This record gives sequence, structure tokens and C-alpha cells, in this order.
Amino acid sequence: MTGARRGLGLDTACGRGKLGVTVRLGARDRATGAQAAAAFRRDGVAQVEPVALEVRKWEDHRRVAAMRAQRCAQLAILVKNAGMAREGADAGVPSGGNDTSTVSEAALRATVATKVFAVMAWTQPLLPPHSIQFSG
Ligand SMILES: NC(=O)c1ccc[n+]([C@@H]2O[C@H](COP(=O)([O-])OP(=O)(O)OC[C@H]3O[C@@H](n4cnc5c(N)ncnc54)[C@H](OP(=O)(O)O)[C@@H]3O)[C@@H](O)[C@H]2O)c1
Repeated sequence: MTGARRGLGLDTACGRGKLGVTVRLGARDRATGAQAAAAFRRDGVAQVEPVALEVRKWEDHRRVAAMRAQRCAQLAILVKNAGMAREGADAGVPSGGNDTSTVSEAALRATVATKVFAVMAWTQPLLPPHSIQFSG
């Protein structure tokens, strides 16, 4: 799962972990990912492993795909949560976030890169070969 160490991602990942799912906890920073994994364990998640992952780094995709091929017999759930609900937001506006009148080009570009292009690029190397169908 990407973006699993805080916010909505943390709740989603921790909840699945408590149900017995082995959680590979994606976080951009190794130290904060390790801290989150330790908190998951204290909270009753038996199987959790932090994974350093910046979804806009193509080398991270290859590293995680290689790890998945070596160590995960089954990839049952892939949660692509990474996004910027707050990052790049203009906290000065009444909504507390970006809207059409305030969003910067840089924030818009980062959002599309993370939530559109990176989602596809990150999913492709994780798909098992037999799941690729040319009909769509
Ligand atoms: N909160 C809402 O009301 C709301 C509403 C609609 C949609 N959403 C979407 O739901 C998702 C989670 O929202 P949230 O409120 O929990 O957001 P958040 O607190 O800002 O957390 C975002 C998470 O995404 C990760 N992330 C951001 N950019 C990344 C990148 N380039 N590579 C890897 N990880 C990246 C962050 O990683 P690090 O922990 O490593 O910093 C963080 O864990 C987002 O996609 C958001 O757009 C939220």
C-alpha cells in the first residue's frame, strides 16, 4: 500500500492488518515508515513490514517489484493511496485547501503526476504476467 503511514492510509492499512492481512507499508521516508510499522505492531498487527517507496521514482517501482517477486507468493490487495490532500495546499484559503482559484501550477502538476501517471507506472511491474489481458 502506498502512503500507508499516516492519514486515511494509516487507518486502512492498520485495519486490514488487524484482520490478518500481511501489510507492506509504503512510506517515502524509511525512518517514519519503520516508526509506523512499530506502532502497527503495538496496535495488534502481526505481520507488517515498512517499504520505502516514492511513487514518482521509477527506480523505486523496480525495486519493490523485485521484492514482490522474491518474497510475496500472492499479492491479494494493492492499495494506491498516495496523494496530496494537504501537501501543496494553501492553508490560507477558507476551505483549508486548494481550489480552482488558488491552486498553483506546481501543486496541480505534482497531483497529476502522483495520482495519474505514477499509479499506472507503479501498477504495471507488479502485475503477474498471466493477469495481463490485451482486451483491456
Ligand atoms: N482527506 C480527504 O478528505 C480526502 C478526500 C478525497 C480524497 N482523498 C485522497 O485520499 C488519499 C489520502 O488522503 P489523506 O487525507 O490521508 O492524505 P495525507 O494525510 O496527505 O497523506 C497522504 C499520503 O500519501 C503519501 N504520498 C504523497 N505523495 C507521495 C508520493 N509521491 N509517493 C509516495 N507516497 C506519497 C504520503 O506519504 P508519506 O507518509 O511518506 O509522506 C502520505 O502517507 C489521498 O490520495 C487523497 O488525495 C482524501
